[in-house]
Amino acid sequence: MGQQLQWGRRYLMVQPDHFRVDYAINPFMDLADQPDPVRAREQWLGLVEAIRSSGAEVEVLAQRPDAPDMVYAMNLGLVVNQPEGERVVMSHMRYPERRMETGSAQPWFAEHGFATSYVGRDGVGAHFEAGDVFAFGDALVAGYGPRTEELGLKHLATELDVRVRGLRITHPGMYHLDLAFCPLDETRAMVCPAAFDDASAAAALAMVPEPLVLTEEEALTFCANSIVVGRTVLMPACPDRVRAQLEEWGFEIVLVDVGEFHKGGGSIRCMTNPVDVLSGRDLPAVLGGEVVIP
Ligand code: ARG
Repeated sequence: MGQQLQWGRRYLMVQPDHFRVDYAINPFMDLADQPDPVRAREQWLGLVEAIRSSGAEVEVLAQRPDAPDMVYAMNLGLVVNQPEGERVVMSHMRYPERRMETGSAQPWFAEHGFATSYVGRDGVGAHFEAGDVFAFGDALVAGYGPRTEELGLKHLATELDVRVRGLRITHPGMYHLDLAFCPLDETRAMVCPAAFDDASAAAALAMVPEPLVLTEEEALTFCANSIVVGRTVLMPACPDRVRAQLEEWGFEIVLVDVGEFHKGGGSIRCMTNPVDVLSGRDLPAVLGGEVVIP
């Protein structure tokens, strides 16, 4: 059995008081298919409860009325704490519709002791969305293409003094890495090769000692957009074949319905931002940083 992930025991979430579909910036969003606010609120509370029951903590940030996608808290910024102190790199969103979100989230991080920085100088650098990034193995694994730009990986590596392994995303429906990749423990992860170009699909599989390979159809259920607390996997959906493999590996699956949030193109992982990733424990420090692209 692989060593459990050390991070994923403390999450930031945004309370969905103003969740709507006001624009369409991914293939799931349709202005004619609006989320029901009461159901969304219930599902969100159900997710908070499920996370707390699994033994992790949840912290809550208020939603800006003019930022309907802010409920996808993962995209606000990437926490990679340093031994000398807590640290977050704020996202620089691809679409102007979401750019104001980070300005509202930064004070929360500052008040909670996180030193904040932006990718590129003064936030005018390359696009970078934290939903594209995970600590896994010897590096931050980062998707680029639809949202994060390749240049953003360079900024990230330098900013955090870590190795960044880039994967080029080509599938329009898996526009963030967290729709196609999900670390399960230190040697296992769900991986959907159909999300990437050929070289990056091969690199993604090579990075994971024991991959749970997802078909495109499986990934489009949002099953990779799950979070893992120790041996518990909180999932929005779990195709039978995926369930069989997870159970064989000793994971406990908890299904949580967040279907209203799928209307904005995101699920459990998108709604939760782990704020306890620690450099030197969850990934090695690399002075000056390094980017590896297949
Ligand atoms: N509507 C949001 C967007 O397109 C959804 C974000 C999903 N978040 C994620 N981490 N994949 O930006």
